[in-house]
Amino acid sequence: MKGLVLSGGKGKRLRPITHTSAKQLIPVANKPILFYGIEMLAEAGIRDVGIVVGYTREEVMETVGDGSRWGINVTYIHQPEPLGLAHAVLVSEDFLKDEPFIMYLGDNILKQPLSELIEEFEEEKPDALILLARVPNPGDFGVAELDGKRIVRLVEKPKVPPSDYALVGVYLFSSRIFEAARNIKPSGRGELEITDAIQWLIDNGFYVRANVTSGWWKDTGKPDDLIEANRLILEDIPRVIKGEVVNSEVRGRVQIGEGSLIKDSVIKGPVVIGDNVKVINSFIGPFTSIYHDAVIEGTEIEDSVILKGVRIKDVPGRIEGSILGNETVLLRRDKKPRSLRLVLGDHSIVELQ
Ligand code: TTP
Repeated sequence: MKGLVLSGGKGKRLRPITHTSAKQLIPVANKPILFYGIEMLAEAGIRDVGIVVGYTREEVMETVGDGSRWGINVTYIHQPEPLGLAHAVLVSEDFLKDEPFIMYLGDNILKQPLSELIEEFEEEKPDALILLARVPNPGDFGVAELDGKRIVRLVEKPKVPPSDYALVGVYLFSSRIFEAARNIKPSGRGELEITDAIQWLIDNGFYVRANVTSGWWKDTGKPDDLIEANRLILEDIPRVIKGEVVNSEVRGRVQIGEGSLIKDSVIKGPVVIGDNVKVINSFIGPFTSIYHDAVIEGTEIEDSVILKGVRIKDVPGRIEGSILGNETVLLRRDKKPRSLRLVLGDHSIVELQ
């Protein structure tokens, strides 16, 4: 079985971060989102992984490399335009040939070994095996109607959901899916939808089976989801302190990378701090990730994702539920007039007290 990871797309809902970076490369708990999926495939024994890339392909290729660090072979597949998940499948046909494959959306994080799904697919031999999760808000997702283990209907963002089983971004397919993808038309938003291709399989009498996930799953497509995914990953981190801690209290499960300095501060885990970070006279509260080279002084932060080289100094109040992109600078200005001075990129969001 081959793997197919989708890492193209537009990432509009994560602007402005995605103006300069692929959304799949945004670090969650200081690791690119995309790596979680690749690692899951490698752990499940998949050796040949195709990665569908779009306009951010150079960055993805540079960050992921040839896959040897996970013991896999990576093949990059260029999707000239993000015309939908079923279109991504079609452009991958030369790579996948007639082998079954497991497709993983590169901006999703899942906590369930993929080997269980692969075994089920090999034993039951359906034409598609779709991973589902029970969600409180099925109207926001593609939703499956089930008859036992068989999926009988899929509906995209239904007003009246037939069930609370949402599609969660992991799909196993036989090569029948190519025929299905070739037989569907673009949807109202102009994309070849994978739900339409799966519905085509159902309508043409093929066996589409469901597996309901036992662990959690998160689509990181929107800012709040990214912060939530960060929280879920940090729940499980071990304590590893490599940097220097001076006159500070470091409580609970905290990771501090090489060359970092924590001085006159309180860190309350779970928290991940990368390499060469300085935290001075500050409070870093639970569920915060701070990426390499950040400098934080005289500030309180919790429940946030702070990216590379961010500089924060003497910010009043507490920063919470925030994402700060690479090299962002956030300072308190003491000079008069005491006005706000902002240099914000396109689609930035600032919420003031
Ligand atoms: P989406 O989150 O549905 O789409 P998007 O990345 O374009 O995001 P937005 O709606 O915010 O603009 O895509 C799910 C995953 O599949 C994501 O990792 C991107 C990838 N993808 C492709 O590789 N090719 C495509 O044509 C599409 C639509 C998505």
